[in-house]
Amino acid sequence: MQINIKKRHGGSKFFTLHSSLFTFFRIFAVENFKYHIYKFKIVMVNYKDLGLVNTREMFKRAVAGGYAIPAFNFNTMEQMQAIVMAAVETKSPVIMQVSKGARNYANATILRYMAEGAVAYAKELGCEHPEIVLHLDHGDSFELCKDCIDMGFSSVMIDGSHLPYEENIALAKKVVDYAHQFDVTVEAELGVLAGVEDEVSAAESHYTKPEEVIDFSTRTGCDSLAISIGTSHGAHKFTPEQCTLVNGVLVPPPLAFDILHEIEKKLPGFPIVLHGSSSVPMDEVNTINQFGGHLEAAIGIPEEQLREASKSAVCKINIDSDSRLAMTAAIRKHLAEHPGDFDPRQYLKPARENMKKMYIHKIVNVLGSDGKLGQC
Ligand code: G3H
Ligand code: 13P
Ligand code: ZN
Repeated sequence: MQINIKKRHGGSKFFTLHSSLFTFFRIFAVENFKYHIYKFKIVMVNYKDLGLVNTREMFKRAVAGGYAIPAFNFNTMEQMQAIVMAAVETKSPVIMQVSKGARNYANATILRYMAEGAVAYAKELGCEHPEIVLHLDHGDSFELCKDCIDMGFSSVMIDGSHLPYEENIALAKKVVDYAHQFDVTVEAELGVLAGVEDEVSAAESHYTKPEEVIDFSTRTGCDSLAISIGTSHGAHKFTPEQCTLVNGVLVPPPLAFDILHEIEKKLPGFPIVLHGSSSVPMDEVNTINQFGGHLEAAIGIPEEQLREASKSAVCKINIDSDSRLAMTAAIRKHLAEHPGDFDPRQYLKPARENMKKMYIHKIVNVLGSDGKLGQC
């Protein structure tokens, strides 16, 4: 371009420089404009156009039916595939959730398209009417929630649990007011979970105060409420000292079902959410440790307790760490047994299979959401 101009006009170096700069800025302006048009188009997607659903109907049915909807976190394609395969095989509604960390890791746009792909994949696997929610897990600001809503999420969590009570209410209400314009459902949190992991850590746990839940849910207008009754994030939920040794197994303290039941009495039929609900299966921990890992004192929530909680108003149970453990155990085992393998498909295939097995187990044997699709 530069040479052509020079040749045609026989111009000076000065003229050539000006022309090039002009061309550069013209192209920059056009491309920038195109980018904003492109961004605008992506930004204004509504989840209904992607085949996703919000949580309202599925929660209503789950509370009435005494079961819980699985909320599985995903960061990778294999997790997404395993979640969809498990949900389709068991005919279960499912919540696919994305944390801020997942957005940072995998890219927000890619995850959004993966969720759209998940709906198409479920149909391809034979499920005509999949019920898939794309949910923001632990949204920490209005802006993040808005961005997700504008991008096609059907549900968001605003986690103001660490804030003073009035600030938590104000933030949750702001998100609810925005989300409800687009029929997006909102989960808010009252009470703080214990845990020392990743971006959702809290040094100590503060159980939810039942006397606050009516005021909080009424003033925020939230659609579901995450509560703190003794669960916590990560694979190390309790120290061995907090547990009781029963037949050589460390049994953690029971969840505070008394608080849960008090909350249920205050908010009859209101959807309750449990975070930090991985059970940290010992067989996966042992496999990881057997094949070179080092996970000490990994302790989760016993599945019986989650089974019991599922029968109450708890209608969403969050599971992430168990998926991480299932994936890591399978990869470690495969690579230890096949040291010559280096094609990711060789070790990610068993990882995907192992996660799928775990998801199906949770759906069928713990949460009881199998066969609960509104339409098959
Ligand atoms: O509750 C948090 C989830 O396990 C997400 O964790 O922030 O490391 O993605 P993350
Ligand atoms: P776990 O770490 O127990 O899997 O909890 C996940 C979670 O609460 C996601 O929000
Ligand atoms: Zn959580």
